[in-house]
Amino acid sequence: MRTVPRIVVLGALWVGAAAPAAEGAPAAPRLPPGVSTALYDIAVPADRRPTPEQVALGEKLYNDKRLSIDDSTSCATCHDPKRGFVDGKPTSAGVKGQKGQRNSPTVLNAMFNATQFWDGRAATLEDQAKLPILNPIEMGMPSPDAVVQKLRGIPEYVDGFKRVFGREISYDDLARAIAAFERTQYSGNARFDRFIAGDSKALSAEEKRGWALFNGKGRCNTCHAGNAVNPLFSDQKFHNIGIAAHKQDFVDLAVEALKVVRTGDAKQIDELALQTKFSELGRFLVTKQENDIGAFKTPTLRNVGVTGPYMHDGSQATLWDVVDHYNKGGTANPFLDGGMQRLGMTDREVDDLVAFLVALTSDDLKALERSELDRQRKARNKRPEKDADQALGKKGHMGDVAPDPDLAKKDPANIGEWGPTGATGGGK
Ligand code: HEC
Ligand code: HEC
Repeated sequence: MRTVPRIVVLGALWVGAAAPAAEGAPAAPRLPPGVSTALYDIAVPADRRPTPEQVALGEKLYNDKRLSIDDSTSCATCHDPKRGFVDGKPTSAGVKGQKGQRNSPTVLNAMFNATQFWDGRAATLEDQAKLPILNPIEMGMPSPDAVVQKLRGIPEYVDGFKRVFGREISYDDLARAIAAFERTQYSGNARFDRFIAGDSKALSAEEKRGWALFNGKGRCNTCHAGNAVNPLFSDQKFHNIGIAAHKQDFVDLAVEALKVVRTGDAKQIDELALQTKFSELGRFLVTKQENDIGAFKTPTLRNVGVTGPYMHDGSQATLWDVVDHYNKGGTANPFLDGGMQRLGMTDREVDDLVAFLVALTSDDLKALERSELDRQRKARNKRPEKDADQALGKKGHMGDVAPDPDLAKKDPANIGEWGPTGATGGGK
């Protein structure tokens, strides 16, 4: 008989059932490993657990192109359930083929986000759902009233809303139904979750080295920490990691934006974010705080193996591009997050880290994982973000600690935790 490893006890925290339902409320679902019961109870308190009827109505609305001005676009157009709830495009296209400035994030686990959108401009799933329907380049409806009028002409909705909410169709109830459907889209059950629960064979040697790099030399856990209570691999905060920096002069743009942005006007900010050059200012559009310039929300890393292209603007095609970007310390700009430093990772370490990221894909998306990894592997010889000399500290003084121990010896100013005897062992 095999002795039970200690990690199983820890692992048990990553699995479990949500709190019992309030009287008369729907029963708690059995959550898969990797979905936090603590977060579930916050995101979906027992008295707000969606009923099967709400979910069915919400799913119908989510997939219905008639919610758009020309019957061409539904939520699913840009968040396709068959594609891990993304569209696979760098930036999304809505009605009349109009392209926005931002990449479509997955709806999987969106219920657990502290805020919605790359810049956190919506507080809840309900607030979020109301915006794309009215955005001129997404679904293009002119007003909430126009949406309600249109749905009143569709008998199945007249009946459906009556049955579910016991009243006439309203824009608020429409958002409630869609959010109810989204609150059933939690996602865990990845190879990583089996590993954490004690099955040491669930990850390959490469993936295990990647997990160590993630928490060690790669420093990913400073912003994407995963733990039992919050297994999303996001701190839910906003950081400038230098994605937008190469495109614009931030300072001039921010000064110009201050004249335009009306704080608290969600609809205006939605349009500025999706349709204008101000998009790249990120969180700054919401807060007008200087330290939010070019800052975007740390996204979840669950299912990241199938949700490319990456970043708020979809500018990175593969996970190798993403890790290359971090390895060289990001792109310098006046507002770059202090957590961004060059990492000194070798080619093999980059491959290991990518392998770990892919191990966060849910088993439900296996087929997609295979085809997407195939596509990314084929593009792997391009590596537009790769700059090995910069990553290893052989060129470019960034005022940081150089990862290359030889360089550190030559220039004492470079000696730091990355040195050969430093806390992280210099990557040896
Ligand atoms: C034309 C494409 C398009 C359509 C249609 C669309 N979305 Fe999105 N969605 C996006 C993009 C792009 C973003 C990110 C925009 C941003 O952050 O500025 C987004 C963001 C979101 C988010 C936030 C996720 C996160 O991690 O912050 C949710 C949830 C969401 N959409 C759900 C919906 C729902 C529900 C509908 C239908 C009512 C819908 N979307 C319609 C493209 C679209
Ligand atoms: C300083 C905080 C910070 C650190 C450190 C960090 N990230 Fe990120 N990560 C972010 C933010 C913020 C974004 C979104 C940035 C944007 O779109 O402008 C992001 C985006 C990503 C994405 C794209 C996800 C998507 O859906 O588009 C991946 C993958 C990723 N990070 C992996 C990593 C890995 C691997 C590491 C370690 C090598 C790491 N991150 C280190 C904050 C961080």
